[in-house]
This record gives sequence, C-alpha cells and structure tokens, in this order.
Amino acid sequence: MSILVTGGTGYIGSHTVVELLKKNEEVIILDNLCNSSKDVLDRIEKITNKKCKFYEADIRDEKELEKIFSKNKIDSVIHFAGLKGVGESVEIPLEYYDNNVYGTVKLLEVMKKHGCKKIVFSSSATVYGDPGTHKYVEEMGRGKASSPYGATKAIIEEMLENLYVADNEWTISILRYFNPIGAHESGLIGENPNGIPNNLMPYIQKVAVGELKELSVFGDDYDTKDGTGVRDYIHVVDLAEGHVKALEKLTSPGVYIYNLGTGSGYSVLDIVRTFEKVNNVKINYKIAPRRPGDLAMYYADPSKAKKELGWEAKRGIEEMCRDSWNFIKNL
Ligand code: NAD
Ligand code: UD1
Repeated sequence: MSILVTGGTGYIGSHTVVELLKKNEEVIILDNLCNSSKDVLDRIEKITNKKCKFYEADIRDEKELEKIFSKNKIDSVIHFAGLKGVGESVEIPLEYYDNNVYGTVKLLEVMKKHGCKKIVFSSSATVYGDPGTHKYVEEMGRGKASSPYGATKAIIEEMLENLYVADNEWTISILRYFNPIGAHESGLIGENPNGIPNNLMPYIQKVAVGELKELSVFGDDYDTKDGTGVRDYIHVVDLAEGHVKALEKLTSPGVYIYNLGTGSGYSVLDIVRTFEKVNNVKINYKIAPRRPGDLAMYYADPSKAKKELGWEAKRGIEEMCRDSWNFIKNL
C-alpha cells in the first residue's frame, strides 16, 4: 500500500518524503511544480537511496487524480499541495481559494470514490487568528482569519470536520504548523523561494550569501523581551517526523488536531544572533516599521502532540540556523 504525498517536491513535503522512505514506506509524489522543481526527486534519492513514483499533476485535475488512484493502491494521503504566500493571497484571493479549497475538494472526492479515507492535512497556526493570548492550545478553536491564505486553511479544516460528520469512516489529522525553518542535514533539500522572500529565515539566508543587502527587522517596540516579534520556530525535519507519527498513531477514524511547534518563542534578534554565531557570518540589519498584520508574540502548546502522538521537537534553534545556512551556501 502506498502513501500519496501531494506537494511532495515542496519544502516540507520533500523532508516528509525522506522520513517516510527511511521507514520503508512506499511513496507516490504528486506535484504540479508551481513552487518546486523536479531535481528535488534526485536529491531525495541521494539522501535515502530509494526511489519514489512521481506524477507531475495538479490536484484540481480530476482526470489525473482518477488515473493516479486507479493505477496505484493508495491507503493514505499527506496533503501539502497549496499556495502559501500570505501577502500574495491578498493580491490574488481567487487563485488561493481555487488552488487550496477547490483543489482539496477535488482530492477528497477522488479519495472517497476510491475508498481511501485517511488524510493528513497541512494547516497553520494562522487559523487561531488573534486570540489575545500568546500560547496557542488546540481547544481554543479557530479565530478570524487575517488573510485569504489563512481563510483557506480555516475553511479546509472545517470542511474536513464536516466530512467526518457525514461519513465517520474517515481518519483525519489536521496539523497546525508554527514557523518551519531549517533544512535536511545533508544540505541537499531546503527552502529557497524565488524573488525577494517574505519570511524571516529565507530573507536572512539571502543576506548571508550577499544577494540582499540587509534584513529589515519589522518593529522593535513590541511588548517582548527585546522589542522584536517572537515566534515558535520549528526545524523542518522535526515537523516531517510529526507527519510520520500522525500516520502511524492515528489508526482509528476521527478528526485529530495537533499543534506542531516546540513550545518556545524566539525573537527576530535571537534568530539573527544565533545565525551569526553558529555560522560565523554577519547579518546586516536595520530596524524598520512594524509589518501590518503581524502579532507581537505567539508560540505553541505542543503537549497534545506529545501525549497522543509521542512526538516532540528535538532540534533547537542552533541546529535550525546551522542547517538553513548549510543548505543555502551549497546551492
Ligand atoms: P511549498 O510551496 O514549498 O510546497 C507546496 C508544494 O505544492 C509545491 O511543491 C507546489 O509546487 C505544490 N503545489 C501547489 N499547488 C499545487 C496544485 N494545485 N497541485 C499540485 N501541486 C501543487 O510549501 P511548504 O512550505 O512546503 O508548505 C506545504 C504546506 O504546508 C502548504 O499547504 C502550506 O500552506 C502549509 N504550511 C506551510 C508553512 C510554512 O511556513 N512553510 C506554515 C504553515 C502551513
Ligand atoms: C508567516 C505567515 C503565517 C504562517 C507562518 C508559518 C505572514 C504575515 N504570516 O508567519 O501565516 O503561518 O509564516 O511559517 O507571512 N520578520 C522581519 N523581517 C523580515 C521578515 C520577517 O522582521 O524580513 C519578522 C516578522 O515581523 C515576525 C518574524 O520575523 O516577527 C517571523 O516572520 P515570518 O517568517 O514572515 O513568519 P510569520 O509572520 O510568523
């Protein structure tokens, strides 16, 4: 039996495929390559010495999905495919609803038709909205989405819950990621977005290699220890391991929601200083105005995942900064 990984050549997907192959799982990747490239497949093979089947396809293409499910015995799906730019989603909201929401509807329809009723879905801490507290616990539920991107994640979560009410044979894991950074220790796979990055670590990486002049630190007057924003950064390999645990442990039908974070918050300046220290490089930065929509501080309460999945993040920010640099400097 195989596991279908949608978005499997992307940043988190590729690391998850590596962890699945390490467990001798049979993996099939589906990706339309809109934000990744085929050479990731060779890199996955180099790391694991194993191959996986690849379909260049779009989750919105029902015919292609039908073909993939007919040709293969798929018993579960890890669903990463989607667009993830918060700012971009404000510019082109319809593309986000089409890709993320409609795409997931099509995927679920074909899964259902083929009797494949086990899915792990990539959600985000953004679904909590602005709850007015710093530590996010699953029971808090969803808040008001602060972007169309966030809205697509909240809608999909709700749709999955509705699906289970209608048909309680489904096993649905909703994983809410905090801030994934880092890369595989081999330096072969990682995150390298096109153009000017929006997120902190990709921006720091480009400053480190000299492609960008300096980092703008968005705000130093928040009510945090050094005035800069605080987030729960999680190593992408820890995150990948969380997906494997969710597949292994969640074997009876239901809807299961977990935060995947470390439980610790680090400021923008903590990350800059740690990156400089462990990699012996200088990151030029200036203090800039706050970025609209940013919250001062939040981090996960990861205790539910620890208790129920036996999963917890093992890698600290030093490893995250080291591996991010190791990947980007070898590109
Ligand atoms: P990514 O862009 O690197 O990976 C997504 C992959 O999906 C890409 O390879 C892309 O080509 C593919 N894809 C997009 N639309 C598709 C479609 N319609 N059909 C087929 N393939 C398609 O992003 P990532 O960082 O690996 O994120 C994976 C998932 O996790 C996304 O759903 C994202 O929203 C979610 N997530 C990411 C973060 C983060 O900070 N990286 C945080 C929370 C949630
Ligand atoms: C972003 C997404 C969020 C998603 C999360 C997961 C936005 C607005 N939100 O969160 O929906 O769930 O990623 O990874 O994009 N910063 C700088 N300078 C920069 C870039 C960032 O100072 O050039 C600061 C930010 O103000 C923030 C921290 O770094 O305090 C992290 O920012 P970022 O990496 O963009 O992630 P989030 O905004 O937390």
